[in-house]
Amino acid sequence: MTMLPAVTHRRAFRRTDDFTPGTPKLKLVQEEIRQLAPTDVLIKVHAVALNYRDANIANGGNPWPVVPNGILCNDAAGEVVAVGDKVKTLAIGNRAGPITDTENISGREIKRSWLAADEDGVMADYIIFDEAVLCLLPDYLDWTEASMIPCAGVTAWSALKGMSIGQTVLIQGTGGVSVFALKLASAAGLRIILTSSSDTKLQRMRDQYPSILTVNYSKTPDWDKEVMKITEGAGVDILVENGGASSLVKSLRCTRRGGIVSQVGYLSGQDSGDLRELIPTIIDRRVILRGINAGSKHDMEDLCAALTAAQTPLKDLIDRTFAFEEAEEAVEYIWQGKQIGKIVLTL
Ligand SMILES: NC(=O)c1ccc[n+]([C@@H]2O[C@H](COP(=O)([O-])OP(=O)(O)OC[C@H]3O[C@@H](n4cnc5c(N)ncnc54)[C@H](OP(=O)(O)O)[C@@H]3O)[C@@H](O)[C@H]2O)c1
Repeated sequence: MTMLPAVTHRRAFRRTDDFTPGTPKLKLVQEEIRQLAPTDVLIKVHAVALNYRDANIANGGNPWPVVPNGILCNDAAGEVVAVGDKVKTLAIGNRAGPITDTENISGREIKRSWLAADEDGVMADYIIFDEAVLCLLPDYLDWTEASMIPCAGVTAWSALKGMSIGQTVLIQGTGGVSVFALKLASAAGLRIILTSSSDTKLQRMRDQYPSILTVNYSKTPDWDKEVMKITEGAGVDILVENGGASSLVKSLRCTRRGGIVSQVGYLSGQDSGDLRELIPTIIDRRVILRGINAGSKHDMEDLCAALTAAQTPLKDLIDRTFAFEEAEEAVEYIWQGKQIGKIVLTL
């Protein structure tokens, strides 16, 4: 095993699993670092990006089971500082981050294992993963930018698969996945319709992307009809769905016949009553409803290749950075929905 320098312990934030409002959701612990197995890689973490999912898990709202007192977060960027004897694909000094679902290498695997849920996540100053689940990160990005790629980036990439220049995409909300999708759709030459509950947020996005069309979904409850008007009765080609149960039927209604709705989020809760018209609508619109679960390692490699080819800057996606030690505050910031775009912890 090669190791530079000798690292024996790490600092990590573990969940308290106390879901009472107002109580700390995280606890900073010092723990021993295990010996590296032959194909393990030790990474010194430089940035951890937060997602809505992290705040939801910390507050007990995750719809899937999580390991007790697990380590939060799945988005990290860091530097390889040690490798096991049999590691072939990474070397000391490489910039790398783990994939979000460590069972999803090619997209054909049968199992799944989500970081921060089925296994510990990455909110720590050192992390160890098998080389098979690590991906090289683009050299042109700084650590904070690179940390957003594994979950928010790959999710946006997967949600937009099939897009082509000149098509119309609808992106819901101004959170992390949405602003990443906006960036990719803009780079790919799509016509973009962005929705938000806030005029201020929409104005900020229009200042950044003057050609986007916007709809306030709070002020316009029939936003699907507004989207049909904008698209002259055709509907959008691809829709990045973040609301879930309460918005899905409307999303299907404003997607063109034969178009794609990528189901990414579940922000509106899970009231099945909202889905009463799902079947007739999906049949009527002939829409392909596509479940998105971040993406595979191959997807992450493809996204990194695309970003590198276009040298796309990602700095403007970051709403705010916090120091690692301010993790509790950062999680609460997301939980309250204060961000436009991404929140990143720096180490
Ligand atoms: N399937 C996957 O692989 C995957 C991966 C990552 C995230 N997710 C899920 O995707 C969703 C977004 O994640 P994120 O990390 O981007 O969250 P985020 O940064 O917290 O952003 C959420 C934003 O979505 C908008 N929003 C809130 N409620 C909405 C609703 N009912 N309908 C439409 N938009 C709504 C809000 O934007 P405005 O304030 O502008 O209205 C909010 O700021 C979450 O449900 C998350 O769990 C799924």
